[in-house]
Amino acid sequence: MFGQDLPIFQSPMLGASGPDMAREASRAGALGALALAGSSADAILEQVARMKADLGGRPFSANLFVLDPAMPDPAQVARAMAQLAAWRAELGLPAQSIPNKWAEDFASQFNALVEAAPPVASFTFGILSAQQAARLRATGTRIVGTATTVAEAVAWHAVGADAILAQGMEAGGHRGTFLRPVEESLVGIAALVPAIKAAVALPVIAAGGIMDGRGIAAMLLLGADAVQMGTAFLLAAESTISAPWRAELAGHTADDVRLTRAFSGRHARGIENRFMREMREAEIPPYPIQNALTQELRAANAKAGRSDMLSLWAGQGVHALREGRTADLVSQFWAEARAAMRETADRYAI
Ligand SMILES: Cc1cc2nc3c(=O)[nH]c(=O)nc-3n(C[C@H](O)[C@H](O)[C@H](O)COP(=O)(O)O)c2cc1C
Repeated sequence: MFGQDLPIFQSPMLGASGPDMAREASRAGALGALALAGSSADAILEQVARMKADLGGRPFSANLFVLDPAMPDPAQVARAMAQLAAWRAELGLPAQSIPNKWAEDFASQFNALVEAAPPVASFTFGILSAQQAARLRATGTRIVGTATTVAEAVAWHAVGADAILAQGMEAGGHRGTFLRPVEESLVGIAALVPAIKAAVALPVIAAGGIMDGRGIAAMLLLGADAVQMGTAFLLAAESTISAPWRAELAGHTADDVRLTRAFSGRHARGIENRFMREMREAEIPPYPIQNALTQELRAANAKAGRSDMLSLWAGQGVHALREGRTADLVSQFWAEARAAMRETADRYAI
């Protein structure tokens, strides 16, 4: 779709996938992704330039969260900090001070992205204006917009996206939802892909719960032009996740995976743990406020070798995780997809 050999995209995964995974995925014929939402403008310029140099013409994508500047309500921040105090004390952390930055400034990040001009740029959490999309496309960058509903796909088409990332409700990590409440935007991938294909004349990339070649084959049969896989790469050698998160990924199934706002203030899917359970009824400030307030707690929890306060992001396909080098996983997935398509055709004598 964007000049890569295989219809497989590696999910950008902030906090889980670094440049090494992106480079190896692209070298193996998939579309590797740089997760740049946490990066400053300078870091974006540097990382995109380095990836271009390393890949020598092979395509890759760069990913940002579309965010408005944070407008914290001081009373709400104080309540959220008070709520986290006991958790911090349990880990021996000092009383919390207000972070000097809630999140990177999206406008500066976007300017850097336009200057860096990666082959492909993908966005989640919100939508670009038609003007922003035109600026980016003028540099030759192709745009992928995340949609969790048909209406969001239509909106991305209207501003000038080149392709739609259809994020099914199965997906690990944050929901990309931006039009309606999340509760009204949870569509399974088997329904979402054909519905978006029918509504929008753009290539569709299917994401959510795709863990192996059978999953890839199924999505291609449903009309997807490519798939994007995230959870499937969490145990890859190039994954940057902490040891306790890695350990938690073994032995869980879809039954243990839930949506929560507790860690970041935005709905995201992960393996349920004590923090998720005990914070279920709490009043949580919106992203990026809660995200910034829990950052130190999560880092300290991982450092202590614990996982009870970690955001254990994973999709509903978590039972099928496997280890290996990113490049080997890509090759395995594609070999399996081809075999699955052949076997299905043979079985039903098509
Ligand atoms: C650990 C983790 C981190 C993620 N971080 C991002 C991110 O930074 N940007 C983004 O657009 N999507 C992110 N996602 C969502 C993926 O783009 C994609 O929707 C998801 O991986 C698909 O579902 P799967 O994990 O079941 O394959 C993340 C997913 C996971 C599992």
